[in-house]
Amino acid sequence: MPHASIALQAALKDVSAEIDRQFDKLLAVPADPREGLYRAMRHAAIGGGKRLRPLLVFATARLFGVDRTCTARVATALECIHVYSLIHDDLPAMDDDDMRRGKPTVHRAFDEATAILAGDSFQALAFELLAHEATHPDPFVRAELALELARAAGPAGMAGGQMMDLQAEKASFDLPTVTRLQAMKTGALIAYAVEAGAILGRVQPEGRTGLRGYARDLGLAFQIADDILDAEGDEAAAGKKLRKDREAGKETFLTLLGLDRAREQARMLIEQAVSHLHAYGAEADLLRDIARFTLERDR
Ligand code: IPE
Ligand code: IPE
Ligand code: MG
Ligand code: MG
Ligand code: MG
Repeated sequence: MPHASIALQAALKDVSAEIDRQFDKLLAVPADPREGLYRAMRHAAIGGGKRLRPLLVFATARLFGVDRTCTARVATALECIHVYSLIHDDLPAMDDDDMRRGKPTVHRAFDEATAILAGDSFQALAFELLAHEATHPDPFVRAELALELARAAGPAGMAGGQMMDLQAEKASFDLPTVTRLQAMKTGALIAYAVEAGAILGRVQPEGRTGLRGYARDLGLAFQIADDILDAEGDEAAAGKKLRKDREAGKETFLTLLGLDRAREQARMLIEQAVSHLHAYGAEADLLRDIARFTLERDR
C-alpha cells in the first residue's frame, strides 16, 4: 500500500490477516443447500478491502490495553456490517456495480437473491458476535457494543445515509445536507470503530470527547477522499468501477466544492482529527497515521 508509514503498513497487514482468520473460522461451508450462501459470504469477506474499520477498533482499544481476542471479535462484527453494506450497495437496485475489491460483486459472482441473503446474514452475524459471552465478560459492555452498532448501522446511521445518498441523484442538496448524509452513510460506522474501542476500554462517555471528535472528522475526510477517488482514481488500484458519481448526477462534496476546495477541506479535517488526539501521547500514533493515510490512499 503506497504512502502508508511502516508502522501503519505492519498494522494493516496484521489486522487484515486476523480478520481473514476470523471469517475463515466463522464461515465454514456446510455440506447442505446453504452452501452457496456461505460461499458468497466468503467471497465478499475474505481477502479484500483495506480493513480500515477493524484497524481503527484495534488502534483505539490498544490505548486502553484491551484484550486482543475481545477486540478481534468486535472488529470482525463491525467488518460484517461494512461488508453487508457493500454487498447491498452494489446491487442493481442501488449502485448496480460489477466489481468490488478487485473481484466480481456478489450478485455477479452468484446471484441477486444470494447477495441479498449474504448481506442479511452478515448483519445478523455482527450482532451474534457482539452478544456472545466470549466478546466481553461484562454483559453491560456487550449490550453497549450492540446498542451503538445498531444505531450506527440503522436508519439514523448507515442505512439512513444510504437512503439520502439515493436521493442525492435527484435532489440538489446543500453543503450541510451533504455533510449530514456523509456523516451517516460513512461516518457512523467509522465513528463506531473508535467508540467500540473506548467501550471495550471502559472509558466513560465524558472521556470519549476527543476520540469522538477524531472519528467525526476522519469519517468526513474519508468520504471526501472516496469522492475524489471516484472522480480521479485508477480503477485497477481501487478495485471497483469509478466515475460513477458524476454519471449518476450525484450531489457530493466534489459537486458542491469543486476538486481543489474538496481536497483542501479533507486536509483541514485530517489536521483537525489529529488535533483531537492532543491528550494522548505516542500510544495514539497509529490513529494519527491512519488519519494521514486516509488522504493519500489510492483504493
Ligand atoms: C467503501 O469503503 C465504501 C465507503 C463507505 C466509501 P472502503 O473504502 O473502506 O472499502 P474497503 O473495505 O476498503 O473495500
Ligand atoms: C457506499 O458509498 C457506502 C456504503 C456502502 C454505506 P459508495 O457507493 O460511494 O461506495 P463505493 O464507491 O461503491 O465503494
Ligand atoms: Mg452507493
Ligand atoms: Mg457504490
Ligand atoms: Mg464512492
